[in-house]
Formats: sequence, C-alpha cells, structure tokens
Amino acid sequence: MFDFKEMKVFFRGNYVPYSEAQLSIANTGFIYGLGIFTGMRAHYNEQQKKLFVFRIKEHFERFRNACKLCHYDHFLASYDEKKFGEMILGLLRENNLAEDAYIRITNFSDEETITPKFLYKDSLCAYLYPLGNYISTSGVKCMVSSWVRVEDNALPARAKFTGAYINTAFAKTDAIKHGYDDAIFLDSRGHVVEGSAANLFLVMNGQLITPPVTDNILEGITRGSVMEIARDEGIPVIERTIDRTELYKADEAFLCGTGVQVAPVTQIDTYAVGNGAVGPVAKKLQALYFDVVRGRVDKYQRWLTQV
Ligand SMILES: Cc1ncc(COP(=O)(O)O)c(C=O)c1O
Repeated sequence: MFDFKEMKVFFRGNYVPYSEAQLSIANTGFIYGLGIFTGMRAHYNEQQKKLFVFRIKEHFERFRNACKLCHYDHFLASYDEKKFGEMILGLLRENNLAEDAYIRITNFSDEETITPKFLYKDSLCAYLYPLGNYISTSGVKCMVSSWVRVEDNALPARAKFTGAYINTAFAKTDAIKHGYDDAIFLDSRGHVVEGSAANLFLVMNGQLITPPVTDNILEGITRGSVMEIARDEGIPVIERTIDRTELYKADEAFLCGTGVQVAPVTQIDTYAVGNGAVGPVAKKLQALYFDVVRGRVDKYQRWLTQV
C-alpha cells in the first residue's frame, strides 16, 4: 500500500507534492467547514493489469449540483464532466498508480477572512488514500443513533458538505463508544435514514427496501448501482419510508457506499438481523459489486473509466 503523504495531489489547479498543499488556519473552508466533497474508488484488476475508476459521471453530477447549492462559481465555470474526469485520471497517472485507491475530491471556500457565507472564491483539490475495507465486509453491528440526521431544510444530506460530517462524527463516535461498528441515523420523524457514511438496505420477503431520496439520505452512487444490479438479477427494489422497528424484523440488512462497499449488517441494537449471519441476498450483491468495480462483468463496464 502506498504512503499517501509521498504522493502528488491536485491543489489549486496543479499537481504538487502532498507537502506543498497547505492551507492557512484562517481559511474559510477550514474554520467553517465550508466545502463539498466526494469520495471515489479506483480498483486495480491484477489479471488485466488495468486500473478502473468507478462512475466518474455520476460523481461529477452530484458534485456539480452541490457546487451549485454553494454558489461555487469557479468550479461551475471551470469544470465540466470531461475536465473533472481528466483531473482525476491525471492524478492517478501522475502517481503511476497500479493498486486500489480511494480518491478524495473537495471543492472549498478558499479565502482567509471571517463570516460564514458562500460568496468566497472556491478551489478544487484532490488526493489519493490507500483505503482497504472501511468497515468489515463480513458482518457489522449497528446502533440506532440518538443523534438525528441533518435534514434538507437545515443542512441538506443529499450533498456531501464537509461541515455536515460533524453530524456523522457524533453518531459514529457514540456507536464506537457503545461497542458497535457503525450508527444508523433516524430523522426527526423517527424514520430510518442511513448509516453514518453509507446508505442502508433491508431485505424483507425477498425484496430490497431502502428509503427514498426525499427522506434526507445522501443520493449514494453505490446505492444507485446496487439497485440496478439487484433489478437486473430479478430482485425487486422498493424505495419507501422505513420505520425503526422494521430494522429489527428485517431478514437481512446491509450498508453500501464508496467507503463501506457492500457491508452486511448482522446486528442492530440488541437484535440479531435475521439469524445473525450474513444473508444470501447481501452475499450475492456484495460478490457482484466486487466483480463489477474490478471490471469483471461486461454488462457494467460502462460504469468504469480505465486509467
Ligand atoms: C452520509 C452518506 N451516505 C451515503 C454514502 C454513500 O454514497 P456513495 O455511494 O456515493 O459513496 C456516503 C458516502 O460514502 C455518505 O457519506
């Protein structure tokens, strides 16, 4: 695994050594958490000796929409899907990468002043991180968090605002301190939203059930991919509001996201999910997902960009 501090990064328009990408302590992105980000993965296929980036187009679209929300005019004027993709591929090429990597891309308010608002100049930056499994992929324990998920009318969960991850940090910290691997957020109505940094699916009577995009979830790119793969496999997918107690009666549950990949949940609070083992639907979708991202399934090659 590479040392990310030895790698080149993209910073204010150039590829520079990690040590040269420095921000002031008065930077608005730092002091107020004013920024938006996305996390992508590149997967190395050992047999084919090829590196594939997963769903650049979808990441760009979500990123651009978030930039629009923040009036990030520099990004909006400077980057289209092609240029955004070239920035990412350039970063991987600059580092001669031939292994798996997580790619963290952030557009942030880049001035040294005070007043939290979105009317400062914005800058784009990106770096690589050697991320294996973010959490276990063979069964995690989740705790329903007493921290309520940020809501669309306050701090929209549908975009990845850097500052919003303080909400995540409260829930994740609490879950870890209680001996769990991750948290499941409810919203203020008590409905199920998602994991701390991942979308959530339940399996009930052979169907996948997940909250709709209007229930304060992040519109996850892995979520969309899993839904498409499941439907192609003949597994019905239903997007509907989920009540808390449905978590405890589901046959299976799993988290999905760029970081967690597809991570089966085997315990929620003090209840076993199903019989407490990884279920067949989660197992099948997880195996398919791992094949898809490494370019082993022709049908989904269209989601991949070869570096
Ligand atoms: C809060 C939250 N929900 C869901 C996800 C999953 O989104 P994606 O599949 O686009 O990575 C993430 C990011 O990983 C997240 O931070």
